[in-house]
Amino acid sequence: MQNPDFTTALLRWFAQYGRELPWRGIDDPYGIWVSEVILQQTRIEQGRDYWSRFMQRFPTVEALAAASEDEVLRLWQGLGYYSRARNMHAAARQIVQQGGFPHTIEGLRALKGVGDYTAAAVGSMAFGLPAAAVDGNVYRVLSRHYGIDTPINTTQGKHTFQALADQLLPQGEAGTFNQALMDFGATWCTPQSPRCLDCPVAQCCDALHTGRTTLLPVKEKKLKVQERHLTYIYIRHEGMTALRRRTAGDIWQGLWEPLLIEGAPLPDLGCPLTLVASGVKHVLTHRILLADFYLAEPHHRPPLPAQYQWVNENNLDNYALPRLIEKLLEKLH
Ligand code: ADE
Repeated sequence: MQNPDFTTALLRWFAQYGRELPWRGIDDPYGIWVSEVILQQTRIEQGRDYWSRFMQRFPTVEALAAASEDEVLRLWQGLGYYSRARNMHAAARQIVQQGGFPHTIEGLRALKGVGDYTAAAVGSMAFGLPAAAVDGNVYRVLSRHYGIDTPINTTQGKHTFQALADQLLPQGEAGTFNQALMDFGATWCTPQSPRCLDCPVAQCCDALHTGRTTLLPVKEKKLKVQERHLTYIYIRHEGMTALRRRTAGDIWQGLWEPLLIEGAPLPDLGCPLTLVASGVKHVLTHRILLADFYLAEPHHRPPLPAQYQWVNENNLDNYALPRLIEKLLEKLH
């Protein structure tokens, strides 16, 4: 069901209103890939600066592959979702080992952390492969325009929208069309106040004609995400503090944190604990973290669990910290 009117109108709209982004117009698969990974969970305005800094420090996939994971994580600090950075680093090593970027969707898909969306985005923009990159913006635009109320977070919905988007791709212009759809969703066909009055495809928009613009796309309600309660204790003794590097296979793997108490009473560190902040909320995809934060200033170094080490407070910048810990440390100052 190619729809030349819809596709042509969007390409024309994009030529006039598409956003100017630093990675647009480049055909270096590495730079495009980095931008897509950053933008997976980050707003464009924030992502821009990170992209520029990242590309300055690691201008090529070889440079990224040669870096230490610690340095990559430090550059990523503040963006959250650190598994993105860890996977990208591992994938860079895969790419270098293979002698360069794979030029097929399957090859891209085989890289660590690269799913359907990223493979299609990089494949279409860097190599002109005919694959639709379906992100949240695309779901919204297509569900409204074609009046599709299949929930977008179900297997059925994913198949339906992927197939539709694939069919709409113009020959030889998949990369441009993918970006046109994303930009159109991000700036025109927005969640709350779409610009239907000056929409280039309003005439054929099912949602507009059936009054369902704000009802689409449909998302199936998932069970409430679990809350997890954490208590951190920042120990300060003669300009030193205790941190440990997380090693378990979790989202903060490789990052550093102060003394963590979870599901246990507060320990006796030989001094009073000062509550600095309580109930600090940090929202992750599958969890809501609620953190209490204490300061302890003992006269003697207390014994600590095995993984913790004493580090100079002046060198905290050298340790990659989860965003939650940064938030807590800000409260100390
Ligand atoms: N969001 C993620 N990647 C994008 C791109 N290439 N253009 C516009 N928005 C995006």
